[in-house]
Amino acid sequence: MMIQIRQFIKHFLGRVSFSKFFYMLFFLLMSLSVSSETTSDIDPRLSESRSAVKAFGGQLVKELKHALQEGGPVKAIKVCNIEAPQIGNTLSDENALQIGRTSLKTRNPNNKPDMWEQAVLEQFEERKQKGEELAKLEFYQETEEGFRYMKAIPTKGLCLTCHGEALSEPVKATLAEYYPNDSATGFKIGDIRGAFTVIKKN
Ligand code: HEC
Repeated sequence: MMIQIRQFIKHFLGRVSFSKFFYMLFFLLMSLSVSSETTSDIDPRLSESRSAVKAFGGQLVKELKHALQEGGPVKAIKVCNIEAPQIGNTLSDENALQIGRTSLKTRNPNNKPDMWEQAVLEQFEERKQKGEELAKLEFYQETEEGFRYMKAIPTKGLCLTCHGEALSEPVKATLAEYYPNDSATGFKIGDIRGAFTVIKKN
C-alpha cells in the first residue's frame, strides 16, 4: 500500500524528490490553516468579553456553593446580595470593561435591562424556541456606546432554591426583606434565567 502511494506520488510529481514533496505539503497545510478562521481573526474585544464572562460565572457559582454549604440559602442570599455586584465590579476594573447580569425578570432592580439588552434577551428566547442550544446563546454588536456582548444563563437545579416555583418560607421571607420588588422566581430547569452583559467602551 505504502509503496503504491510512493509510486503514485513519484509518477505525479515527476522528478520532485520526496523531501521536496513534504516541504510543499507542509506549506500547503500552513497556508490552509492561515486562510481558515483562527483565533487571531476573532475581534479581541469578543474574546475578552467571553473570558470575562467565564471568570464571572465561575466565581459566582463558587461563592454561591460555598455560601450554601456554610449557612444554607438564607445566608447565601445575603452573600449574593453583597458579593455578586462586587465580583462584577472587580472584574470590570481588572479587564477595563463593564460586566454585569440582567434578565427579563430581575431580582435586583439595578440589573434591569436597558433597551439593547431587552431586545437581545427577547432574541435569546426566540432562538431557544427555534431549538438553539441554550448553553451557546450569545450575541454581540458594535453600538454607539462601544462593543456590546451578551451570553444567556441557563437555569439549573441549583438555582431553583431561590429562583424556582416553590420557595421555602425562610427563603421567601429573606427575599422579601432584601428585594421587595423581586420578580426572579417561577423559573424551571432549562429556562433562560438571564444573561451576562458586557460593554467594552471605545
Ligand atoms: C441562595 C439563593 C440563590 C441561588 C441558589 C441562586 N441565586 Fe441568582 N440571585 C440571588 C440573589 C440574592 C440575586 C440578587 C443579586 C444582586 O443583588 O445583585 C440573584 C441574582 C441573579 C441574577 C441577576 C439578575 C437578577 O435577577 O437580578 C441572575 C442572572 C441569577 N441570579 C442567576 C442565577 C443562576 C443561574 C443560579 C443557579 C446557578 C442562581 N442564580 C442561584 C440568589 C440566588
